[in-house]
Amino acid sequence: MGNSCQQKSSSCSSGSCGSPDAAVAKQNMAITSSLGKIKNKILVMSGKGGVGKSTVSTNLALGLANRGYKVGLMDVDLHGPDICRMLNLTEKLQSTQTDGRSLFPPMQYGENLKVISLEYMMEDRDDPIIWRGPLKVQAIRQFIADMDWGELDYLIIDAPPGTGDEPLTVAQTIKDALAVVVTTPQEVALADVRKSLNFCKHVKMKVIGMVENMSGFICPHCNKSVEIFKTGGGEKTAGEFGVNFLGRVPIDPRIVVGGDDGKPYLSSAAESPATKAFAEIISNVEKYIAAAAPSSLKIADAGCACGSTCNPTTCSC
Ligand SMILES: Nc1ncnc2c1ncn2[C@@H]1O[C@H](COP(=O)(O)OP(=O)(O)O)[C@@H](O)[C@H]1O
Ligand SMILES: [Mg+2]
Ligand SMILES: [Zn+2]
Repeated sequence: MGNSCQQKSSSCSSGSCGSPDAAVAKQNMAITSSLGKIKNKILVMSGKGGVGKSTVSTNLALGLANRGYKVGLMDVDLHGPDICRMLNLTEKLQSTQTDGRSLFPPMQYGENLKVISLEYMMEDRDDPIIWRGPLKVQAIRQFIADMDWGELDYLIIDAPPGTGDEPLTVAQTIKDALAVVVTTPQEVALADVRKSLNFCKHVKMKVIGMVENMSGFICPHCNKSVEIFKTGGGEKTAGEFGVNFLGRVPIDPRIVVGGDDGKPYLSSAAESPATKAFAEIISNVEKYIAAAAPSSLKIADAGCACGSTCNPTTCSC
């Protein structure tokens, strides 16, 4: 996008040329406008890598889309973007220059899901990303400001592990973002998750709840659950921190195959303990949102599309 922008006027939205203050103010307005049309924003985070954030983000987004919500999925794991591979999205954005007025189209997965990942903008997906903080901050701001997300019920944001630039940028840019924290049952992962929960406290991000992933193993032969690590640690930690426990997803070899082949689990798997687990997690997220923000009806149900400020009972649009 606009990091190589050559424009000399305040129409530059990258902030790297022209009048920086005007460009930042303009970008702030674009961000406010984009976010105003998105009802619920959910950051999926964890203290540790490899615990299943991208898997949870993808299946949460897909599960909500399957339930008829308008959903966006934003991959802010800039060093290790996985979402395109998990959804088998191979498109490339045609032009990376904006004229300052038109918005870029996100990728589309099925009818209800829009997706953005840095891979969509890269010439060669195998190029390593060697970026420091300010560029990462700018990329995430542009993911919001310059993308045509339109009206959404949910924006799911897949973060890299830890509490670095990316989740901090999301917290600072999307003030009403809510967190879902993913962990695995082992003690070491749980120690890291406490850091994530403390981060949320620190930046005043509300936590929808915790997901314990890789919790037991589903035998492919008899479909029964085998406890290979002790389970229940996530629920205990959630209790300690006073946050909801959203559910536990077992290890299911089909989830790995689905992730590698670009066929996400919920798009193909027949009913199984893991699909049931995802369904329960999605229902718990819906319940939290309904309790916290009763006006967050589905766009389709609300009967109008004028954004988060709309009151469907009084709106005449
Ligand atoms: N419940 C699960 N059962 C089996 N494999 C899983 C499960 N959750 C994640 N995986 C696999 O583990 C690997 C890491 O998951 P990923 O979602 O990429 O983690 P993260 O985003 O936290 O780094 C992937 O290969 C993924 O397919
Ligand atoms: Mg990931
Ligand atoms: Zn068995």
